[in-house]
This record gives sequence, structure tokens and C-alpha cells, in this order.
Amino acid sequence: MRTSKEDFDRLFASAGAARENACAFYSKFKVGAAVLTNNGDIYSGCNIESSSYGLTMCAERNALAGALCAGEREFKAILITADTPGPVSPCGACRQLLYDYAPDIEVIMTNVKGSSAAEDISELLKYPFGLSKLK
Ligand code: THU
Repeated sequence: MRTSKEDFDRLFASAGAARENACAFYSKFKVGAAVLTNNGDIYSGCNIESSSYGLTMCAERNALAGALCAGEREFKAILITADTPGPVSPCGACRQLLYDYAPDIEVIMTNVKGSSAAEDISELLKYPFGLSKLK
């Protein structure tokens, strides 16, 4: 893992606290995420579900969106947590958005008990589509 133990602990605490706010009325599957900027600031998010299921927003994308809305553009790491047997893995849509805005980000997958695995987004999204392909 490229992220320091100190930053891991901060991210894990932040994502865990955000997970408590998850609006997972339909799936009951609560997810928390926290993104770390190059300046050391942390923005967190949880999943928000809709009665129109397809409108559901994942925790990772909400954390990233919060940071982007605050004007942040440089990211080091994102940590995701859920009550899964092993580390929870980000969905494909979140991988795409992370790659779009943070192509060098480290993705730290955890469960609430603290099991963890980490990969760069480039490992999680092979042969990515991105801005360069639109040119
Ligand atoms: N979910 C996330 O928040 N992040 C992921 O990467 C996987 C899925 C949420 C969406 C939905 O609210 C619930 O988990 C079940 O899919």
C-alpha cells in the first residue's frame, strides 16, 4: 500500500463514520468512502438509494463529487468500506469516474473489521476509456 498507516487510519475512520449515514433503505447494504487530497484533506461520502433504483449513488462517487464540488482536483487515495466478509470492491461506474478525475489514485478496499487490499485505479480499470480517447 502506498498510503501511510496514519492516512489509512484517518481514511478508515472517516469512511466508517460516513457509512453510518448511508441511505440504503432498499438494499440494506451500507457503504462508506473517504477520499484523500494531495494536500491531506479528506472528503467522505455514503451511498444514497432512490425508490427509482437506477438513481442510486455510490459512496465512492459521492465522496469524490463532494471533493470536486469543493474545488479539489488532486487526489492521493480513496478508501471504501462495507460490512462484507472481505474488502469491498468498487463498482465499474465508480472505477470509471475515479479514473476520469484521479487517474493515479490508490484505491483502498476494506471491510468494517479492517481487512484491506489496495490497488491503483489503473489496475482496477484496464484499457480505460478517458478524455484522451475523445480527441
Ligand atoms: N454501492 C456503493 O456505494 N459502492 C460500490 O462500489 C458498490 C455498490 C452501493 C450502491 C447500493 O446502494 C448498494 O451499494 C448495493 O448495490
